Amino acid sequence: MASHRIFNLIDSVATASCRCPAHSHGNVLSLAAKKFASQSNAPADKEYAFEMACSTIRYGLGVTSEIGFDMVNMNVKKVCVMTDPYLSSLKPVQQTLDSLTRNGVGFELYDKVRVEPTDKSLEEATNFVRSLQFDAFIAVGGGSVMDTAKAANLFSCDPDAPLLKYVNAPIGEGKPVTVPLKPLYAVPTTSGTGSETTGVSIFDYEPLHAKTGIANRALRPTMGIVDPLHTLSLPERVCAYSGFDVFCHALESFTAIPYTERSPRPSNPILRPAYQGRNPVSDVWAVFALKVIRKYFKRAVYNADDIEARSNMHLASTMAGVGFGNAGVHLCHGLSYPLSGNVKTYIPKDYSKDHPIIPHGLSVVMSAPAVFEFCAPMCPERHIEAAELLGADVKNVKKEDAGKILSDTIRNYMLDMKIENGIAALGYTKDDIPNLVRGTLPQHRITKLAPREQSEEDLSKLFENSLTVY
Ligand SMILES: NC(=O)c1ccc[n+]([C@@H]2O[C@H](COP(=O)([O-])OP(=O)(O)OC[C@H]3O[C@@H](n4cnc5c(N)ncnc54)[C@H](O)[C@@H]3O)[C@@H](O)[C@H]2O)c1
Ligand SMILES: [Fe+2]
Repeated sequence: MASHRIFNLIDSVATASCRCPAHSHGNVLSLAAKKFASQSNAPADKEYAFEMACSTIRYGLGVTSEIGFDMVNMNVKKVCVMTDPYLSSLKPVQQTLDSLTRNGVGFELYDKVRVEPTDKSLEEATNFVRSLQFDAFIAVGGGSVMDTAKAANLFSCDPDAPLLKYVNAPIGEGKPVTVPLKPLYAVPTTSGTGSETTGVSIFDYEPLHAKTGIANRALRPTMGIVDPLHTLSLPERVCAYSGFDVFCHALESFTAIPYTERSPRPSNPILRPAYQGRNPVSDVWAVFALKVIRKYFKRAVYNADDIEARSNMHLASTMAGVGFGNAGVHLCHGLSYPLSGNVKTYIPKDYSKDHPIIPHGLSVVMSAPAVFEFCAPMCPERHIEAAELLGADVKNVKKEDAGKILSDTIRNYMLDMKIENGIAALGYTKDDIPNLVRGTLPQHRITKLAPREQSEEDLSKLFENSLTVY
């Protein structure tokens, strides 16, 4: 049965029923759903429902100072504060520790989180938290720190579990999380990942030279403490690259397949993935983020003291996080995972010099012009709408030009933010492409959310078209 007919069915049952306020429609809908289920005898049929899950968010200038109260309110005696070595001497961490001290909450600081975590760095964090008993976790940092804390929380609550137990299939076993986790407070210090809202923890799985992750709603933080004051110390390049992460979260979730096109429909709701395909609610968050990006992204990058611009980008990061955390991302992220996993010698400005990295937002935006040009024919209206939200004049644009208008718009943003000219500038050549394609293939959890299916040749072409961008 075609998925849109579910709605017709539900609609017709609901319309024919009593609409007086004294009678709930809950039973009517479940009857319709039951009727639908009995008529559809294909268990592997497409999805018919979506679920919105997100952390509680507290947003405000200086709100970090409340975190000690929260721990007392939860009767936390000993909390693990996680951060990376560069942030550990900066204000976001100091303010968190001061608040804990003022409120008499015991803590241990783990400041060895690796920027762009790996299986090895997660293991080190896990060993640390397993060796001590914590009642709660606080992550102060960017996506690297928040993702490490999510994994550390999970593996401290399931002390015998090997890393791959929960890692997405086919790399790991992809088991659902059923153990109860400890409270996790996430204090983002970049405006990028939206990890404070999502149940996703990403790391580089070094044996495969590609990123993968653990994705389960249970992992999402109890609370995201979104304090824009922390963005004032963001270096220009971190602000630009993490801003493009927000940009791609919003664009990819806005153009992902509709949730009704995803299959198979889960046999048990616990198996419904966090990344479900776009839906009417995720669209609201993506559109909000795109509007903020248009107004504030460039100002935020080039004016470290522009609190209005940086605050708005901080909020946009959270908002886009709620959107993609439920809808998913697709090809820019899928292609980015082998790009960052196979980094050769690239060391970006404004990042630590102790290991080569391709920062996540940079690896993601590199393929964006090629990706949206490729996907646009499947849903041209959405691509045109996205270009318009980002400021393009779309008055006379025809559907067949949807890909071009959106990719030109993206290129202009990349140029404005002084983004490197394609993956060639990050050290890749044509000869690397077969390997990059191999690293993309296992990422089908996200690549299958793209509106257009891709053959290996298509993926090759996307990398080839991203060797240079301008
Ligand atoms: N979980 C998710 O939903 C999700 C989504 C997207 C990306 N990610 C992952 O997040 C990671 C990237 O995170 P990110 O882009 O937030 O950056 P990051 O955490 O890797 O930090 C980047 C750099 O900025 C520094 N920094 C961070 N905040 C600062 C501040 N306020 N002032 C000064 N310096 C600061 C850090 O010390 C680090 O050197 C990647 O591993 C990526 O795969 C996760
Ligand atoms: Fe991302």
